[in-house]
Amino acid sequence: MNATDIGYLVHLAFIAGAALFVMGLHQMNSPATARTGNRVSATGMIIAVVAQLISVTQAGVGPVNWLIIVGGFVVGGGLGLRLARSVAMTAMPQLVSLFNAVGGGAAAVLALNDFIALDGHRVLSGGAPGLDGWRTFFILADVIVGSVTFTGSLVASAKLMGLIRGQPISIPGGRILSWLTVVVGISVSIVLVMAGSGTVSYDVSVLYTLLVVALICALVFGLLMVLPIGGADMPVVISLLNAFTGTAVSMAGFVVGNVILIVAGALVGASGAILTRLMANAMNRSIGNILVGGFGAGEGTQAAAAGTDGTIREVSVDDAAIQLAYASKVIIVPGYGLAVAQAQHGVRELADLLEARGIEVSYAIHPVAGRMPGHMNVLLAEANVPYPQLREMDEINPEFERTDVALVVGANDVTNPASRTDPASPIYGMPILDVDKARSVIVLKRSMGRGYAGIDNPLYLNPKTGMFFADAKKGLAELIGAIKAL
Ligand code: TAP
Repeated sequence: MNATDIGYLVHLAFIAGAALFVMGLHQMNSPATARTGNRVSATGMIIAVVAQLISVTQAGVGPVNWLIIVGGFVVGGGLGLRLARSVAMTAMPQLVSLFNAVGGGAAAVLALNDFIALDGHRVLSGGAPGLDGWRTFFILADVIVGSVTFTGSLVASAKLMGLIRGQPISIPGGRILSWLTVVVGISVSIVLVMAGSGTVSYDVSVLYTLLVVALICALVFGLLMVLPIGGADMPVVISLLNAFTGTAVSMAGFVVGNVILIVAGALVGASGAILTRLMANAMNRSIGNILVGGFGAGEGTQAAAAGTDGTIREVSVDDAAIQLAYASKVIIVPGYGLAVAQAQHGVRELADLLEARGIEVSYAIHPVAGRMPGHMNVLLAEANVPYPQLREMDEINPEFERTDVALVVGANDVTNPASRTDPASPIYGMPILDVDKARSVIVLKRSMGRGYAGIDNPLYLNPKTGMFFADAKKGLAELIGAIKAL
């Protein structure tokens, strides 16, 4: 087989890889096919990597480069595998954010390397242009988007890990500095693109200085963009940074002329953008509004909430068991606490027990319940909860009025009626699960502790609500025992 044939085969493999990415993404639309979708996409990635290695072999890289490739593969792949296997489901958003930082940073480094390589060629060949206008444009777009993603994602990850404060952090003069980085970064980029296209000519050292200025502006902008964002807005920002990573990778594909990078990056960019929009809609917020900042107060803060004067009604396990056992319709509302307690199997067992008594049971899934998109779906799927019982917010909300008992397990913010009634609340306007419209409500959680947004929940003071204080797993086990004993 000659070099041309191998080149065709590599291209064919790239097309097959890209087709598998699209098929995999499509299958991730439904929890029933999501696992297969993941495997299909991973197969596409393996094909793409092998094809790229064959193409590298064809290009005749030396032993040092092979050492770098294999070394990078072993270190990066090994670390990724270890992290992905050991991470707790609740720590997934910070891991995703770290991966975003790595993706964005890698794309920026690739573009910087390309600039240096092409410019070196220009110098060595006595002025023959290595860079052209378009190429310089893509290089700069890649450096800028990749660098913003890199620092922005590192800050997001540090906030979620608790390494820095989760609340919005405002820096004096931060907004002016942000604008300054935007204006300087864009101006410098325009000059560089003009130099690349031959419209203006500068000394090589000036070009490098301008490139470093653009790089610094992007890195600083990434920091300033994410620091003032906090609390319940973080998931949307992580999803937005994920879209940025895809865009940076796609730009890198244009820079090095690699089709599979362009396709894979565009898919990540587009799906990240769609997810960002869906999440922002679910919280009734515009993306611009989130980036301007000031919404989420962050965990454990003393943000105000309306209607917190009053008394709570505590219920015993036997009271709760009787209410559930003699209901005809029950809606279970899972939240972050269910994930922390790993109580998904308990909740399934309880639902089975109630169904065996002829009670209609469904699960109400809020789009941002838990700590990552689809968190509740993944947890409940792990416990083999039948998919038709999982009902999205818009679909289930009209049913609460006809529901005898809404059983809230470890959920808080997604049930907070202050979002409807209190314009001063930081979650005002966020659509919630209409739990308070059910005939009665049982809330299973450990204490009066706040949720992610750090605010009180007037639902707990509603006379219809009974508070059943326990760890979700332990409380569910007690409930199951009490219902069986009836
Ligand atoms: P939260 O509002 O965070 O409330 C969780 C509740 O679970 C807490 O009030 C806590 O109360 C309780 N809890 C904790 N451990 C428990 C355990 N072992 N057993 C029983 N209860 C336990 O959860 P939510 O209602 O699911 O809302 C999600 C929030 O996270 C939203 O504000 C959302 O914007 C934000 N967020 C979402 C995402 C995504 S993409 N889903 C990502 C990041 C942030 P006690 O301490 O009293 O038990």
